[in-house]
Amino acid sequence: MRIGVLTGGGDCPGLNAVIRAVVRKGVEVHGHEFVGFRNGWQGPIEGKTKPLGLEQVEDILTRGGTILGSSRTNPYKIDGGVDKIKAVLADQGVDALIAIGGEDTLGVARRLTEDGVGVVGVPKTIDNDLGATDYTFGFDTAVHIATEAIDRLHTTAESHHRALVVEVMGRHAGWIALHSGMAGGANVILVPERPFSVDKVVAWVQRRFEKEYAPIIVVAEGAMPEGGAEVLKTGEKDEFGHVRLGGIGTWLAEEIAERTGKESRAVVLGHVQRGGTPTAYDRVLATRFGLHAVDAVHEGDFGVMVALRGTEIVRVKLAEATDELKTVPIERYSEAEVLFG
Ligand code: F6P
Repeated sequence: MRIGVLTGGGDCPGLNAVIRAVVRKGVEVHGHEFVGFRNGWQGPIEGKTKPLGLEQVEDILTRGGTILGSSRTNPYKIDGGVDKIKAVLADQGVDALIAIGGEDTLGVARRLTEDGVGVVGVPKTIDNDLGATDYTFGFDTAVHIATEAIDRLHTTAESHHRALVVEVMGRHAGWIALHSGMAGGANVILVPERPFSVDKVVAWVQRRFEKEYAPIIVVAEGAMPEGGAEVLKTGEKDEFGHVRLGGIGTWLAEEIAERTGKESRAVVLGHVQRGGTPTAYDRVLATRFGLHAVDAVHEGDFGVMVALRGTEIVRVKLAEATDELKTVPIERYSEAEVLFG
């Protein structure tokens, strides 16, 4: 078999570990051949390929980013996009695809399977918001990076008796905020799933100052004040209809300063959460996903995504995986809330 591999959407640590595992097992155990498609769905639409054999996957296990490149291209938004993909696959002699991505990339994979292309999905996203899998790789690394930043911010906040607001990624799901905030002992954690009361945040911040501590507030980029709206960076939307968020941290820091009379600063962690080498946990998860994904292709089991359930890797229908975002349940948030203030 000749198998195409692509990575789509926002990059995340562990993508190269998946590619390596797919190719190593695919070539050495199953005797398949591979071709890399560049920049997400743009590759199979425009015929942009890259050789992908044992030599190309040497030394990439620990490397961040993706050797194949990524994009947010949506073939269903391009005139004749699906026909172009079918023509390129036929031209390249590709029998099946492994698509490594989040809800958008895997949503396309699901539709393509319905349109007759054999695709197996691998879930990635630092946001950990994909349904049907307990964890996505990239999340653990992002939480580590954010936690380390919070640890460091504690000491400078203490020195200057300031409130520091740390804005982390997470458009619709507050997993990174919840985990890094808990791990870093944040004073307040704000997530998109639960609109927050500014009065309550200010009260928690003041209580912290009264105890002679400097408060650290962790806020997900998609969090909103009660009765308010998401803070947008620009009005522009990508091909999957997502707006660019960013700015809630700065807004909240100003609000805190005004209402408490204390100095307050915002720190936006941004793409640093997605860069660099994956943690050991993410390397293992990504490798296991890759090994199981290539087995699924070998068996001709298309329209599925590999997923983590407990400690087992299982296969779930792409339809199930992309049906609904996995957001932070209210009970998980309430658990953390006990420690606020
Ligand atoms: O989906 C992953 C993610 O990192 C989100 O948390 C974030 O909102 C978005 O990507 C940022 O996307 P971009 O790379 O287009 O700035």
